[in-house]
Amino acid sequence: MASGTLSRQDALSCVGCRHACHILLYADTEAQLFEETPIRHILLMQMRFDGLLGFPGGFVDPSVETLEDGLSRELWEELGFSLSVTVDDHVNSCHTPSSSQLVAHFYARKMEEREIREVEKAAATTATDHGHEVMGMVRVPLYTLKGGRGLPNFLSHSFIGNCRCQLEDALLRFGLVPREELEMALQQAEQRRS
Ligand code: GTP
Ligand code: MN
Ligand code: MN
Ligand code: MN
Ligand code: MN
Ligand code: MN
Repeated sequence: MASGTLSRQDALSCVGCRHACHILLYADTEAQLFEETPIRHILLMQMRFDGLLGFPGGFVDPSVETLEDGLSRELWEELGFSLSVTVDDHVNSCHTPSSSQLVAHFYARKMEEREIREVEKAAATTATDHGHEVMGMVRVPLYTLKGGRGLPNFLSHSFIGNCRCQLEDALLRFGLVPREELEMALQQAEQRRS
């Protein structure tokens, strides 16, 4: 699923490339949907101004600031939350299929459920980009109910760039959804889209 990934350093040496950094913020949760279906994990994505789903983050000019400082700045703008992203949070970098001149850097940070709630609250109240670049934060349903409700429906929506691949990769990489469940959900999502 994650094809053609580059190291952070190789990605930075790309001449004439623009860089975009986005991050997955997630937490474990004991919560259950309708008091019977484990929700398992809280993953934050956002509804963007253009109607597409994406991760928080944005363009970074490495000649002005480091990738991680730029991502932290974007998080302040989009989430109203101060989070100091470091190189340790880096997951992978790749050329985006839609534009070979854009390199997408992906980061992830595991938080406490309480912190995720604080992010959601700040994103909806104090974030300067709320209602402008960002129409709202959304949690990703990780369970599958009868009729493809849950993850299959979610995956059938429209995503910006290659962020659906970043999501799929992260779900497996961090053990958030079993592989068979994800593959089933992707098949059902495909059927819904056609
Ligand atoms: P402006 O301040 O308006 O420039 O927006 P921004 O800096 O927040 O940039 P944005 O988040 O839109 O990301 C920059 C580019 O990266 C977009 O034009 C998309 O092509 C791409 N992009 C946006 N979100 C994601 C994402 O979640 N994953 C990936 N891989 N690419 C994304
Ligand atoms: Mn309820
Ligand atoms: Mn932004
Ligand atoms: Mn953005
Ligand atoms: Mn920006
Ligand atoms: Mn902006």
